[in-house]
Amino acid sequence: MVWKRKDLLGLRDLSAVEIEHILDTAARLKGIFDRPVRKVPALRSKAVFTLFYEASTRTRSSFDAAAKMLSADTYAISPSTSSVTKGEGLVDTVLNLEAIGADAIIIRHSCAGASEMAAGTVKCSVLNAGDGMHEHPTQGLLDMFTIREKKGSLQGLKVVIVGDILHSRVAKSNIWGLCKCGAEVVLCGPPTLLPPEMAAMGATVEYDLDRALEGADVVNVLRLQLERQAKGLFPSIGEYSCLYGLDADRLRRAKPDALLMHPGPMNRGVEIRGDVADGERSVILEQVRNGVAVRMALLYLLLGGAEVAVD
Ligand code: CP
Repeated sequence: MVWKRKDLLGLRDLSAVEIEHILDTAARLKGIFDRPVRKVPALRSKAVFTLFYEASTRTRSSFDAAAKMLSADTYAISPSTSSVTKGEGLVDTVLNLEAIGADAIIIRHSCAGASEMAAGTVKCSVLNAGDGMHEHPTQGLLDMFTIREKKGSLQGLKVVIVGDILHSRVAKSNIWGLCKCGAEVVLCGPPTLLPPEMAAMGATVEYDLDRALEGADVVNVLRLQLERQAKGLFPSIGEYSCLYGLDADRLRRAKPDALLMHPGPMNRGVEIRGDVADGERSVILEQVRNGVAVRMALLYLLLGGAEVAVD
């Protein structure tokens, strides 16, 4: 297919064909990891800016690695040491980065819709690296890539997403993407963190974790987002962990070859036991590595790298 989009704002907007095309492109580009020189000239002279208003380890550094492997020039803007501290708003910030020469701006922001607003302001590409509780499309894509790579297809798989669904932009992007590509998505968490209306996105809602896990092909455990919690959504971390924390006994309810995923960062001992996170079913670090391939694919497609052969 011919890629037409300027921006990546969410998976809700993408078709199944577009998602599969991104995943196919990532599969081709992942081979760059195995080369003695991990660099191709696909995006030579392109300027990629990261603009993260919230903390990040994985997303920011893997976008940086992806851009560098494609030979783009990378620039990291940190709001805490930029003119944001003098009151400069998002619109002026992205206009100035574009004036400096940005071909792509990758934005993480606490407000839902921030990257969409930026995309409507500048002519260069904008990639959403997480906006409030709305979407985290590159995480959704790397999760789907990892599942597809391990299982061959997404069609018909039972994917259980466990935890703090309400606050999770990762969950929203996974739900949109997985449902479009034919997976059965089951959401599980305490009722205060999983409103029943989320079923309208195409998923099934189940409040009992043991029931949810029966026959699962994939278990994706979400971080309990302590920084976004209002008081009273659950009685205590201990009780949350007891009812919704994943341990080895619970994981046995899933299929014997089920994949265990977590987007990171993990609260070990809260939503997931450390032995399970490090166990044989865990693909958590493979998710992180696949994030570089998926982000390479997105930069490659959005910035017109398709004219340069990378095979
Ligand atoms: N999964 C994820 O978004 O991790 P970071 O917050 O470290 O980028």
